[in-house]
Amino acid sequence: SIEKKVADLLSKMTLEEKIGQMNQYNGFWDLTGPAPEAGNAAKKYDHLRKGYVGSMLNVRGVEDVRKVQKIAVEESRLGIPLIIGFDVIHGYKTLSPIPLAESASWDLEAIKVSAEMAALEASAAGINWTFAPMVDISRDARWGRVMEGAGEDTYLGSKIAVARVKGFQGEDLSISSTIAACAKHFAAYGFAEAGRDYNTADIGTSTLNNVVLPPFKAAKDAGVRTFMNSFNELNGVPATGDKYLQRDILKDKWEFDGFVVSDWGSITEMIAHGFAKDGNHAAEIAANAGSDMDMESYLYVNELAKLVKDGKVKESVIDDAARRILRVKFELGLFDDPYKYLDEAREKEVTGSKKLHDAALDMAKKSIVLLKNENNVLPLKKEGKNIAVIGALASDKTSPLGSWRIAAEDNSAVSVLEGLSAYKGNTITYAKGADVVVGEPNFITEIKINSTNKSEFGKAIATAKSADVVIMVLGEHGFQSGEGRSRTDLGLPGVQQELLEAVFKVNKNIVLVLNNGRPLAINWAHENIPAILEAWQLGTQSGNAIAQVLYGDYNPSGKLPMSFPRHVGQVPLYYNYKNTGRPSLPGPDVVFWSHYQDEKNDPLYVFGHGLSYTTFEYNNLKVKNLYKNSKNVTVSVTVTNTGKYKGKEVAQLYLKDEYASVTRPVRELKGFELVELNPSESKEIEFTLSEKELGFFNNQNQFVVEPGNFKVFVGGSSKAQLEANFKL
Ligand code: IFM
Repeated sequence: SIEKKVADLLSKMTLEEKIGQMNQYNGFWDLTGPAPEAGNAAKKYDHLRKGYVGSMLNVRGVEDVRKVQKIAVEESRLGIPLIIGFDVIHGYKTLSPIPLAESASWDLEAIKVSAEMAALEASAAGINWTFAPMVDISRDARWGRVMEGAGEDTYLGSKIAVARVKGFQGEDLSISSTIAACAKHFAAYGFAEAGRDYNTADIGTSTLNNVVLPPFKAAKDAGVRTFMNSFNELNGVPATGDKYLQRDILKDKWEFDGFVVSDWGSITEMIAHGFAKDGNHAAEIAANAGSDMDMESYLYVNELAKLVKDGKVKESVIDDAARRILRVKFELGLFDDPYKYLDEAREKEVTGSKKLHDAALDMAKKSIVLLKNENNVLPLKKEGKNIAVIGALASDKTSPLGSWRIAAEDNSAVSVLEGLSAYKGNTITYAKGADVVVGEPNFITEIKINSTNKSEFGKAIATAKSADVVIMVLGEHGFQSGEGRSRTDLGLPGVQQELLEAVFKVNKNIVLVLNNGRPLAINWAHENIPAILEAWQLGTQSGNAIAQVLYGDYNPSGKLPMSFPRHVGQVPLYYNYKNTGRPSLPGPDVVFWSHYQDEKNDPLYVFGHGLSYTTFEYNNLKVKNLYKNSKNVTVSVTVTNTGKYKGKEVAQLYLKDEYASVTRPVRELKGFELVELNPSESKEIEFTLSEKELGFFNNQNQFVVEPGNFKVFVGGSSKAQLEANFKL
C-alpha cells in the first residue's frame, strides 16, 4: 500500500532529506526581491542533487521540467521525484474565463470540465500540481483577488470548490492527465480589511465557521490533496503560524491527510507581522503550526535541522510533514514513473488543441451575464446595420486573458472586434476612444490607472454619430485585478466614464460590454444605457463568446456571483447580511435606522441577478415538511419559459431561519438548479434541504439544527419573492 511505501522510504531518509521534502524552490523568476538565495541557481541545483528540494514551482514545459526532475531522480541519493507546482488558475496556455466569471455560470459540470481541460494542458507541460482552486469567500470588490474566487456566497462557493477539485484531480490522481489541486488560502484571506491585499483579517467565530471555512471543508471532502495557507493574520495570528487552523481544524478535526504549502515567503513574513523574532523563530512556529512545505522562504532548509537538534521542533513533526508530501507524490504515480508527465509528443498534441479551445468557448459563453436589456436592444440584428465599436478593450487581445496567465502568450485571445467580424451582414467601424491603461501592463509592475488621455474622443464620437448601434467595450484591463491589485474606486477606470457619456450625447443606442475582474459601480450606465452585458475577462475565446451572445446565437444564462454596488462606500456588500435591530425606517424622515444618508442600502445588481433573451416565471411553490422522518425538507416549484426564445435559467432557493441562538442572515442560498426550457415549456423542480442546509455553527463550534420558523424563497435571483413557510 502507499502507506507502507511511504513508511519504508521515510525510514531510509536522513533528517536533512526529510526536511528537503518540505522545501520548495521557485524555478525562474523572483517576485519578492532578493531572498537569501534568490537567483542563486547554483545553490538550488546543489540542493537538488543533495535531495534537499521536494518541489519546484514555475518550472514549466517538458524540456525544463525534465532538467530538474532528472537531477532529483538520477543524482540525489534516494532519487525522490519532485512535485512540480504551478498556478494553473483558469487554464495553462489556453485560457478559460477568470474563476469569478466561470462562477457566474452556476454550471457545475461546465466548471468541472474547465478544470479538467486546464489539468490536461498543464499536465502535458510537466506540471503535477496546481495552486487552485482559490476558495476564499469575499464580500469586498475592492480586493483584486475576487477575480480568482467564486464570489461572495459560501454555498455556491462550496459547490464550485468541489467541481474544481474534481475537475483537476479526476477520479485517479495517478493518470497523467490529472493534477493535484490546492484549496487556498487557508484562511480568511478574502476578508482583508478595506479590501487591501495582504491586509489583516479580523472576523468572529460565526463568520469563520459559517462563511469562510465551509468551502475549504467541501474541498477537503471532495478529496483535495493540498492546502495553501494565507498571507494574512487572522485575529492576531498569521495564518502560516496558526496551529488552530492548520492542526486543530484541518488536520485533526477534518482529518486531512494531504499537505499544507505555505504561500510565497509567508514564513519569513511572520517577522514583518511581528509574530516571529527572526527566521529561525519563524521556521519553528510554521513547522509546529502545521505548514508542511516552505514556498520560497528558504527557512526550512536552513533552520529546521538546527531546530530539531535544539529540541524546538520534534522530529515527529518533520516525519509527519514529509510523510504527507511523499504520500501525495506516490498518489500522483511519480515513484512509478517520475517522467510520466514528460512526453514531448503529448505536449505538442495537447497544447492549444481544438478540444481545449472548444471547451474554453463553451465556458466563456456560459459565464456572460446580461445585466440589463431595455426594449430588447439585444440580440442584435445580423444584417444591414452600421455598428460602431468603441473602446480600447474591444481590440485588445491580451486583456481578456485576465490575471494569472503566466504561461499564456500575450495577444493570444480573440478580441471582441475579431469575434464580431465573423458576422458579415453588418458594417463595423472601430474607434478606440481612449486607452484603459498607460503602457503595457504586466503581472508584476504597478499599473497607472487614471492617466489616460482624451485625444481620441473626437474620432469615437464621429464614429458613433452615424451608427445604428454602438457597442462600447469598457472596463478594467486584465491586470487591473488579481493579486496586489486592490482599488478604492469601483468606477470605470481612467477616462472611460467620460467617454461613455460623450458618446451617449450623440447616440443613445448603446450596448455596453463590460470587461472586468470584479464588480464595478456603474450607476450612471445603469440609469442611461439600454443594454449592459457583463463579459468579465473571458479567456482565449473571449471575442467569439461575446459576439455569439450579442447576436443571439447563444442565449445568456449567467447570474452574478457577487453583488454589484451602487457606490464603493457600500462595500463590503453581500446579499446574506444580518437584519440588525433597526432594519427599516421607523417613521417619516426619522434618522435612527441602519442606512446611509446619501445612498440606498441595496446593491445596483443583486447576487444571483442575470437576464436572458427570454423570460421565466415561478409558480406553485410547495414545501413538504418531512423533517421528522427523514431529516429532510423538500421544496418544489414550477418554472415556465414565458418568452420567445429557448433559454436556461438558474432557479435559486433561499432559506431564512427566522430566529436562532446565533442570528442568521436575512436569507441564504441553499439550493439551485440549471433548467433549460423551450418557449411555453414548464418544469417542476425539487430542492432537498437536509440538516446541512438547515443548520449552522453556533459560537461553541457546534453544528446545530434548531427548531423554529423558516421561510423559503425561490426565484431567479437573491431578490426572489415567491415565498413559503415551514416549521421544524
Ligand atoms: O499560488 C500563489 C498564491 O495564491 C499567491 N502567492 C504566490 C503563489 C504561488 O505563485
